[in-house]
Amino acid sequence: MQRAAHTALHDWSRVVGPALIRQCSKCRAPLLLSARAYSVIPPPRDAEEREMLHRVLRVDHAGEYGANRIYAGQMAVLGRSRTGPLIQEMWDQEKKHLAKFNEIMAENRVRPTALLPLWNVAGFVLGASTALLGKEGAMACTVAVEESISEHYNSQIRALMEEDPDRYTELLKVIKEFRDDELEHHDTGLEHDAESLPGFWLLKNAIQLGCKAAIYVSQRV
Ligand SMILES: [Fe+2]
Ligand SMILES: [Fe+2]
Repeated sequence: MQRAAHTALHDWSRVVGPALIRQCSKCRAPLLLSARAYSVIPPPRDAEEREMLHRVLRVDHAGEYGANRIYAGQMAVLGRSRTGPLIQEMWDQEKKHLAKFNEIMAENRVRPTALLPLWNVAGFVLGASTALLGKEGAMACTVAVEESISEHYNSQIRALMEEDPDRYTELLKVIKEFRDDELEHHDTGLEHDAESLPGFWLLKNAIQLGCKAAIYVSQRV
């Protein structure tokens, strides 16, 4: 009875054709994934849109990659301290963000930035060196970076909304969700004494200058 009801619930999905259908893992009834033939970004209308979307994905992927390397650097120094689990928790979320962008990039054959090897080293060094200042140093770094990333996501959200909110619904959903996570990381940094680091504002401004430069070049190279 329950099975019949469950299947009936999904019967209407026959209408959309096999390409969009996957099976329910419990009862094998077909599931409608989406009314669209794409998962996150629409097939580009022209070269200009293609270029715009690739730039968006390339820089976001670079940012998430860099964030992962920063948390890896922090964990290398503070992993065994009392702050370890907190950093690990944020890192785990960054891993999910990166995995999502990896998936979207592969699906749409988007080339990552050529600067990944640089962000690999620079991210780790930034994370480890600020963590050497102690827990407050690591949190100051988190506050600076996460504020930059969430501002960057906000400006992308604004641009995509102005462009065509219906066309980019799925992409906007991903970016908004990640933006909220980054804001949470930022707040976590503040709650864990980032501002009590001597020279906090100086360090924060220096890191954010670096983030701006990284965002600028990762869109282009
Ligand atoms: Fe992230
Ligand atoms: Fe984050």
